[in-house]
Amino acid sequence: MRPLRLGILGSGKGSNFLALARAIQAGVVPAEVVCVASDQSQAGILELARGMGLRIFVCRSGSFQTKLEPEIEEELAEELSRAGAELVVLAGYMRVVKAPLLRSFGGRIINIHPSLLPAFPGLKAWEQALRAGVKETGCTVHWVNEVVDGGSTIRQLKMPVQPGDTAESLHARIQTAEHRLLPEVVRDLASGKIAWERDPRRI
Ligand code: GRF
Repeated sequence: MRPLRLGILGSGKGSNFLALARAIQAGVVPAEVVCVASDQSQAGILELARGMGLRIFVCRSGSFQTKLEPEIEEELAEELSRAGAELVVLAGYMRVVKAPLLRSFGGRIINIHPSLLPAFPGLKAWEQALRAGVKETGCTVHWVNEVVDGGSTIRQLKMPVQPGDTAESLHARIQTAEHRLLPEVVRDLASGKIAWERDPRRI
């Protein structure tokens, strides 16, 4: 089977992207990264992608912080299509996905989130979990729709909140779990073990 073609979107340091790229390189995930895009020209994820010789794309940042203007998001969707992305992976992409991306890639976009959704959507989910005093938290990979962190769950990893956990220690443990979960989900989507919302190989 030919490798699944991935478009990656990220705004931050890119540790999830790195975990995925390493799993691909190790032959564990039958996929290839065809484009790494960011809304932040200084993002660490772009440095990582450059270092791997990958195609990168930087969007104009526009006048909003939480979303891209429609025409900018359209350019991003066009770039991902040109690169041949079949699955779009949000790996720390800090803007709300809107109609232009959903029109082109709806049912083919996944996101990784640092809580057991539907609990604690939105920012700093590990802090929300600590404040709520839950005994268990974790991370979720889910399909992306127009609702922030609201699409259906694909898979989760759970972990206990330990006595004495700080925001930092809990976040670090969740990130370690994310680095396992995301490559596993991409591997299982690539092999057909997980059902797609909209399978690119049947479009
Ligand atoms: C991750 O914790 C992910 O759950 C959230 O954004 C963070 C990205 O971290 N959506 P990194 O850039 O992959 O290190």
